[in-house]
Amino acid sequence: MGEFVVADATSVWIGAGADGATVMAGAAPRRVALLAQPGVPAAIAARLAATMPDPVVIEIPDGESAKTFGVVEMVCRRLATAGIERGDLLVGVGGGAATDLAGFVAAVFARGIRVHYVPTTLVGAVDAAIGGKTALNLEAKNQVGTFRHPARVVIDTAVLEALPVSLRRAGVAEALKAGLVGDPVLVELLERRRLDAPLAEVAERAIHVKAGIVERDFAETGERAHLNYGHTVGHAIEVAAGIPHGEAVAVGMVAAGRVSALVAGFGGEDRQRAIITALGLPVTAPGVEAGRVRALIAQDKKRSSGGLRMVVLAEVGRPQVVAVDDATVTAALTAVGIGG
Ligand SMILES: NC(=O)c1ccc[n+]([C@@H]2O[C@H](COP(=O)([O-])OP(=O)(O)OC[C@H]3O[C@@H](n4cnc5c(N)ncnc54)[C@H](O)[C@@H]3O)[C@@H](O)[C@H]2O)c1
Repeated sequence: MGEFVVADATSVWIGAGADGATVMAGAAPRRVALLAQPGVPAAIAARLAATMPDPVVIEIPDGESAKTFGVVEMVCRRLATAGIERGDLLVGVGGGAATDLAGFVAAVFARGIRVHYVPTTLVGAVDAAIGGKTALNLEAKNQVGTFRHPARVVIDTAVLEALPVSLRRAGVAEALKAGLVGDPVLVELLERRRLDAPLAEVAERAIHVKAGIVERDFAETGERAHLNYGHTVGHAIEVAAGIPHGEAVAVGMVAAGRVSALVAGFGGEDRQRAIITALGLPVTAPGVEAGRVRALIAQDKKRSSGGLRMVVLAEVGRPQVVAVDDATVTAALTAVGIGG
């Protein structure tokens, strides 16, 4: 619980029972506009708006369908009609898709207005709201976007504690990743308390890992790649198997754990697998077509010069990027039940 600044740019508030003043703190706008996903986030936005002066509330489409130029145009027109101007405040309320959209709109409307985020999912709180990447989907997911930090992130732990278990698990998968690359205490906490781990502490620790890396490498020229631990194989499995991102990353971390053991002497492979299992996340992706996964991984390889590169752990909290050969990819896939 408390407030801290990350990446020299974003003040993060973590506590229970945020109101309009909590969300607007640090800004003195003439007007405030809230973008909210339907359902629970819309109800949260309505509650926040009730304690704000003359707010404009705009409902956006749910999930990925919000991250389009069409929705950006709709929102910008609504902001213009409502008289929102440069010195005003935009607040994004919802999961990572809502804050990705809000950040993009705030970067371009009136050439840039202040934006605050109220992430209502754990993935949003520990990952999407932190680090200043905004995004729209075009030919590929997140193909369009800007690097621009929100000025404030308000994380209401009462909202996070009420999440359905699937959303809790998805967020815990990303938090575990953060712990594995940068915070052994967070890994121990998740090992001990599993899905019952207190989300305020989980979020704060995961945020510090991500923010620390982003502070050192905002534009993703080097160290920021460490945040992709588990994502090379994970992303391929997500696409090939059509399973949720958090589950795919869990399997991807198991694969990366095997590569870590093979090329970096990582001794925590079995422990990592046990923690993932204890969190109710999958450790294998049986039945997924190996050829398709390999083809998707090869696309990754094409994007980076010098062969396929993966993030591995020498130990918990000590990630590094290594080039891997085909035999190592085969071993990684075998470790998660993908053969052939
Ligand atoms: N910018 C970044 O650095 C970054 C990092 C990670 C992920 N992302 C993006 O974040 C998105 C994934 O985040 P997400 O999982 O939050 O997705 P999401 O925003 O699509 O939310 C998932 C679902 O949860 C619902 N929801 C939101 N809050 C809820 C609540 N309190 N209770 C019940 N349901 C609720 C939403 O309406 C939606 O249907 C992706 O678009 C991804 O690209 C961005």
